[in-house]
Amino acid sequence: MKLRNDRVLRALNRQPVDVTPVWMMRQAGRYLPEYRATRKRAGGFMDLCRNPQLACEVALQPLERYAFDAAILFSDILTIPDAMGQGLYFTPGEGPRFRKTIRSMADVEALPELDPASDLGYVMDAVALIRRELDGRVPLIGFSGSPWTLAVYMIEGSGSKDFRRAKQFIYNDPEAGHLLLRKLADAVTRYLNEQIRAGAQIVQVFDTWGGILSTSAWREFSLAYMRQIVQGLRKENEGRPVPCILFTKQGGLWLEEIAASGCQCAGLDWTIDIGQARSRIGSQVALQGNMDPAVLYASPEAIRKEVGAILRSFGPGPGHVFNLGHGITPEVDPDHVAVFVDAVHELSAKQRD
Ligand code: CP3
Repeated sequence: MKLRNDRVLRALNRQPVDVTPVWMMRQAGRYLPEYRATRKRAGGFMDLCRNPQLACEVALQPLERYAFDAAILFSDILTIPDAMGQGLYFTPGEGPRFRKTIRSMADVEALPELDPASDLGYVMDAVALIRRELDGRVPLIGFSGSPWTLAVYMIEGSGSKDFRRAKQFIYNDPEAGHLLLRKLADAVTRYLNEQIRAGAQIVQVFDTWGGILSTSAWREFSLAYMRQIVQGLRKENEGRPVPCILFTKQGGLWLEEIAASGCQCAGLDWTIDIGQARSRIGSQVALQGNMDPAVLYASPEAIRKEVGAILRSFGPGPGHVFNLGHGITPEVDPDHVAVFVDAVHELSAKQRD
């Protein structure tokens, strides 16, 4: 099927575009009153994820309001450990929690193999439905957590301030750590390939907790498994390449290694200057990012100024997908998102003149 707006795909393939494309991590979420209303109808966040019709509805909500150039699947990275029997639940204001935790080799060995088509059929149904409802408007992004990021939640049993248990686990018993990560890398590869089969046109791996590791530990416990995933992904579907974005939060030190992983795009958080990132790896991969999400709390003038500064820092030429450096936060004024999206399109068009 013909894509009417293929700017994001073109930018990911480092082809010329009329204006810089933009989407936003967590673009479907709590800052939107219509999202909160649909979540209420569903019952809770996981009920929303497990209901393909409602997941589709919230995935499309930001596209009704704003000129985003891509849609992202509405789901969560923690669906994989949930489907492996870890018992995911959310209590309002507390973030994710698991009923079971991974604390020993025996726990790792007991983890079942994931069959994404059946165990996570609700995700595939949501992908297919969103794709159908998009009807070629913009491409659909599928996603997964990195094996390390999933392992952190499975070992800790929740979010953490210091990641003490997750680090203790890999340092005390690297063999069990590697078995867990190998199982997760297999699961993630199959999960993303199934999303591609269901209609995802781009995939992103969220290595949200990669940046808490030392360089050598990140290479050993996170990058190695992301590389394995990238190598195992379907490279093409429906006669088009399926680009893969790797987003390691606080991964600015490791850009060369991310670019050499085989991915098509490096996602950047806001701590790195995008112009410097471009001079380091911009000839190898596209770049995605990287405005500090907190800029959206500032005035419209300040938002436009920051968007302009990032566009200038990237400079002319292809290979930039504009995004925030991490997800939008729930307290942002929805009107400020319109200012952000329109500024990316307007100011990048001007820069080209
Ligand atoms: O970007 C999108 O719009 C797609 C949907 C999406 C969600 N989670 C929906 C969500 C994506 C891509 C994710 C990824 C995700 N989930 C990550 C990696 C990205 C990142 O932010 O670093 C992580 C670490 C998770 C795990 C997770 N899920 C956490 C820590 C939380 C709680 C966050 C908080 O602020 O309380 C969630 C819940 C979650 N996932 C919400 C949404 C919209 C909020 C749930 C609600 O409605 O209350």
